Amino acid sequence: MVASTASGEREGWSSRSAFILAAVGAAVGLGNVWRFPTLAGENGGGAFVLFYVACVFLLGLPLVISEIFIGRTGQDDAVGSIRKVAEKSGASGAWSAFGILGVIAAFLIVSFYSVVAGWVLYYVGVMGGDFVSALLAGDPFRGALIGESQEAIQGRMGDLFASPALLLSMHLAFMGVTLFIVARGIGSGIEAAATILMPMFFVLLIAITIYGAFVGDMDEAVAFLFTPDWSKLTPQVMNTALGQALFSLSLGVAGLITYGSYIKGASGLGPTSLTIAFADTGVALLSGLMIFPIVFAVGLDPAAGPTLVFQTLPFAFQTMPAGALIGLLFFILILVAAVTSSISLLEVPTAWGIGEMGWSRRKSSLIFGGGAFLVGIACLLGYNVWSDVRLLAFWPLFAELDILDTVDGFTGKVMLPLGAFFTAIFVGWKADRSLVEKMTGISGIWLSVWRFLIAWLCPLAVGTILITGLFPAIL
Ligand code: PFF
Repeated sequence: MVASTASGEREGWSSRSAFILAAVGAAVGLGNVWRFPTLAGENGGGAFVLFYVACVFLLGLPLVISEIFIGRTGQDDAVGSIRKVAEKSGASGAWSAFGILGVIAAFLIVSFYSVVAGWVLYYVGVMGGDFVSALLAGDPFRGALIGESQEAIQGRMGDLFASPALLLSMHLAFMGVTLFIVARGIGSGIEAAATILMPMFFVLLIAITIYGAFVGDMDEAVAFLFTPDWSKLTPQVMNTALGQALFSLSLGVAGLITYGSYIKGASGLGPTSLTIAFADTGVALLSGLMIFPIVFAVGLDPAAGPTLVFQTLPFAFQTMPAGALIGLLFFILILVAAVTSSISLLEVPTAWGIGEMGWSRRKSSLIFGGGAFLVGIACLLGYNVWSDVRLLAFWPLFAELDILDTVDGFTGKVMLPLGAFFTAIFVGWKADRSLVEKMTGISGIWLSVWRFLIAWLCPLAVGTILITGLFPAIL
């Protein structure tokens, strides 16, 4: 069954640029501004970054085209779209199973994504309060959190993590906003949000990067991000980089199948997909160039891990001119990026409920938004009352991880690569060739290049990296 509006017609984007904006909004998120700098820092910078960029263009881009092709051709939720492409290609409908994998992965990701976005919301509150007191003191351009020691500033995160109530209320607020937008539908919900939030995001990103270039240590940041030390490129690091490329481009969870299914009319998928990949990678690199100059300027550790953005940066903003203001803007920027991504995540299961179960949009979004909220509660309790719980204790790779990191790690390292692998095999080997050519609008040499990448390189590379990453013992 196909989801439809009251007039009987299935929802859709108002224009090609609306789709691009929404898809860039989906791609650009915590993955770019929080996860990418964290991983680049932890994995030694240059080699990780260059391998990541290679993954984006050689593996990610062909997959972006493939997912949008499936959605655009199927004009249905992820599972229904794959089924329709399979039907038109004379392939088995069983292929739609990897759509279900994507729906489950998107549901799991949005549950912890909202918890992390909740931390961001908390810091918007902290920095907002600080900026208001700067204003009241008649000194709007002072540094952030003046008078607080480094320990006190870093301790704020510990305080947040120790408080289930605080974590829960932030998570609730963020999931509430996500649900509200998705329940409103494609045009007046998701598209409207992207149209307002994405321009805001880009203005903030460019402004803070320029600020960082002036007050921070740009040379050291550039050297750190772009000078490769290839000895650091272990199979684990490659697995992480691939997982990050897939996560950042919103691949492997049927997100772009779902968004692609709302494209009406013809459009060449090559240029559209290139725009998405360039915008997403550009934002990840710019985020690195926004964050690391500030980190290096005050001599902090780039390998601080997931707390880099939350504990390290607020302290760095203390000694910087206008740090109170910029710090506030910085967390608003992350929040904006998170919203346009979380709505795309929730849209995947929501569209499935509408398309496969025949539910109304309101009912479907409420069921999955509510469900993800509950799973998110387990994630946030993993920081305090359930800190001893190890969900995958039997699996060495995940045995040490708390609940949130387990869900993050399992989706990112197992489910996303699996989804990407099946997408590549399906589009590269099973989908009807003339259908692919017609619906992607790609022809000539580019068609051959893309075909090679999706049919050969993607399955082989994703498969190898998946297996060696998960089972390092076999090497
Ligand atoms: N791409 C988003 C980010 O980088 O934060 C995360 C994401 C969104 C993953 C949507 C998957 C998805 F379908």
